[in-house]
Amino acid sequence: MKRIGTTVAAALSMAALTMAAGARAGPASVAPTPPMGWNSWNHFAAKIDDATVRAQADAMVASGMRDAGYRYINIDDTWEGARDAAGVIHPNAKFPDMKALADYVHSKGLKLGIYSSPGPKTCAGYEGSMGHEAQDAKTYAEWGIDYLKYDLCSLGPSMIASGSLEKAQAIELEAYKKMDAALRATGRPIVYSLCQYGVAQVWRWGGSVGGNLWRTTGDITDRFSRMATIGFGQAGLSKFAKPGRWNDPDMLEVGNGGMNAVEYRTHMSLWALLAAPLLAGNDLTKMTPETLAILTNREVIAIDQDPAGRQGDRVTAEGPLEVWAKPLSGGAKAVGLFNLSDQPSYVEVDFAQVGLKGPVKTRDIWGAKDLGRLKAYRALVPAHGVMLLRLGG
Ligand code: GAL
Repeated sequence: MKRIGTTVAAALSMAALTMAAGARAGPASVAPTPPMGWNSWNHFAAKIDDATVRAQADAMVASGMRDAGYRYINIDDTWEGARDAAGVIHPNAKFPDMKALADYVHSKGLKLGIYSSPGPKTCAGYEGSMGHEAQDAKTYAEWGIDYLKYDLCSLGPSMIASGSLEKAQAIELEAYKKMDAALRATGRPIVYSLCQYGVAQVWRWGGSVGGNLWRTTGDITDRFSRMATIGFGQAGLSKFAKPGRWNDPDMLEVGNGGMNAVEYRTHMSLWALLAAPLLAGNDLTKMTPETLAILTNREVIAIDQDPAGRQGDRVTAEGPLEVWAKPLSGGAKAVGLFNLSDQPSYVEVDFAQVGLKGPVKTRDIWGAKDLGRLKAYRALVPAHGVMLLRLGG
């Protein structure tokens, strides 16, 4: 139920381009920089409830994450209960009072996000929004919801059943546009996050159906190989991102325990270079100082949140050694020297390769050290590690 067939997916893009052409543009104002926050899925999955969400909000403030820029507390799948006789959705017993929860989260200076599907059922088999889009958007707005992740899930089979790629894509675009219109009709600013696993070149049309961000990939897991496949697989997508319209390579796994600190710094650095949404996916109430330091490094966050809103991209790849760069406002650049191999290795970059001529101020971000004015850099990078530099500016 969870995925549309790959054959269908592979060939949808051309139809998507044509059919999205007349769609309305969405407001960039709700996500001028990539959204930052937390999402329940990666750590808690179905074991999420009101008390846990409140505890995460408390911890986001107490840990200093809010002050570092994290804002959204996003409830993922499994909050949904039944519809009443009038068709109004109610949360299940795990969430006794969604409005009270939103009030609580807002009282902490944070925002609340929720999750649904354009299909009849969500990916975990709970109630979806099909046929109730306007009603659900109104309910979310009444509760005080600030962010909606809208996950394709059970719309996939009806797309396939339509019998043609064009019809399947029309169904998908219509469904996403319908919820966009419903959210706007509420008058409440709500970030609209599309989740359809990156098929059919969603980066080309996600904005035209109102998406502020769109998942560009299948699900991340807390393993270096999966994180790297997703993260380094974003090469070539930078031109599709801009303020209000972000590529989303899925949520962070930092602190969940499946990678070491070197690997989590690689994950965080790459997401920052990608101008990716920074949605922590760990238990914020149980963070080691190391996890917190990775998630709240101000200079890394500043790269992600740079006001120019430019996504970074790959500059060179030499076997498992990759250099990525992100243009920053004021002509500066963030550059990542990555070593994907299992051995320590030298990685180098001539700054002319990232468009900088002459010596420029060079800073080692994780080392928090100025390295002087340089024209090139060669670093011994640990296995699975990164040297993250800020050049100029
Ligand atoms: C997946 C989605 C995940 C999570 C899950 C919930 O399709 O990619 O991020 O939302 O559904 O059931």
